[in-house]
Amino acid sequence: MPSVFTGITPFIYGTTRLGDENIPRETRLQVAHAAMDAGLWFHTARMYGGALEVLGQAFREAPTQIPRLIIKIGWENINQLRSSIEECLQPLGLKGVQLGQLCLGGELAEDYARGGECYKVFQQLKDEGLVQGYVVEAFPWTSEPSVRALRGGYTDGIIDGFIFYLNPLQRFASNELWEAIQARHQPIIAMRTVSGGPVHSLRDVPGFAWKEYLQQRAVQVAPIFERSGIGSWTEFCVRFAHSFPLVRATVGAAGSSASALPIVFRWSKPPSGPPAGWRTCRNSCEPKRASGLFRRISSPRSAPSNPAGPSRWISTPKSGVCKSCVIARRVFGRTLPARRSNLPFQIERIHNAQFFISI
Ligand SMILES: NC(=O)c1ccc[n+]([C@@H]2O[C@H](COP(=O)([O-])OP(=O)(O)OC[C@H]3O[C@@H](n4cnc5c(N)ncnc54)[C@H](OP(=O)(O)O)[C@@H]3O)[C@@H](O)[C@H]2O)c1
Repeated sequence: MPSVFTGITPFIYGTTRLGDENIPRETRLQVAHAAMDAGLWFHTARMYGGALEVLGQAFREAPTQIPRLIIKIGWENINQLRSSIEECLQPLGLKGVQLGQLCLGGELAEDYARGGECYKVFQQLKDEGLVQGYVVEAFPWTSEPSVRALRGGYTDGIIDGFIFYLNPLQRFASNELWEAIQARHQPIIAMRTVSGGPVHSLRDVPGFAWKEYLQQRAVQVAPIFERSGIGSWTEFCVRFAHSFPLVRATVGAAGSSASALPIVFRWSKPPSGPPAGWRTCRNSCEPKRASGLFRRISSPRSAPSNPAGPSRWISTPKSGVCKSCVIARRVFGRTLPARRSNLPFQIERIHNAQFFISI
């Protein structure tokens, strides 16, 4: 049976800016049509101002190009589930959408955590074709019900995955939920592709980062981006999201910066391998610079006591296993454990051979 994610585009167009009254409606319609032309999936919600009405108009104007949609649904109790879907479908002029993003609070979150009645309603709404499947939204402070639901096995066969901020500056699932997702191979939809904007603006422009930790994280990440050899922050971010094997897509916005549109919209197709000058490690499949990192130990007997010592490594382009993975296997005897932090560690794994020092 095809998965609910079949045909999903690596970049999903997030529609917050379509509801921004500061942008002329005509411009917003043009952006919506451009994203539809690109064949992207869309993410939208009733709380994004008049975004649904703009989309509804665009869909009437180009009915053959109506995209697959993720809409935010849920709230505090079972009775709100149906109405939360219908309040989106009506302005969109649609009978159903691809995915419901379950935003669960109050008694509904508790019911979900203990495998209660809400699962019957999830199934009914699906049977009626209002949604084809579900992803559950998570924040660090709303992760706990999902951990319980996963551990109880209640989500099997009805919940298709999880959706949360996952970008170079944020990983918005608690460590417990992150580990439960990894252990059960749950698909992820990453959100906020570029972390709010260009990393140098987040680092340098006062007030651009809306939280202090984002500015501090930008200070850490900007040099990694600069060393990466990847030409644009957007590409770096899309590749970052897709370096997690469970990630199916990343949701990002573009509304007013015309230059952003062609950059993000070209991600309607999967990344075609690592960027120029990079290659994929056979062991971990994460892109790394081809020069310097793809090495192996000259012989097992000469295994370095200090595995970081570069003089003990010889370049063997054919081996296909990168230095980082060989070190990880030698030092830990297994693949790397996840760092117990609420910030992403994957960047270090992709771009920094010394990553193991920070575990
Ligand atoms: N809880 C939730 O469900 C939730 C929460 C937050 C976000 N979201 C979803 O995720 C989407 C993205 O979130 P976001 O807007 O917070 O984060 P984002 O994707 O990081 O984008 C932030 C802004 O960065 C600008 N930008 C994007 N690409 C650029 C480029 N190549 N060059 C320069 N600027 C660029 C765009 O500005 P301009 O608009 O000015 O072009 C965009 O609005 C939202 O639209 C929404 O669908 C969902």
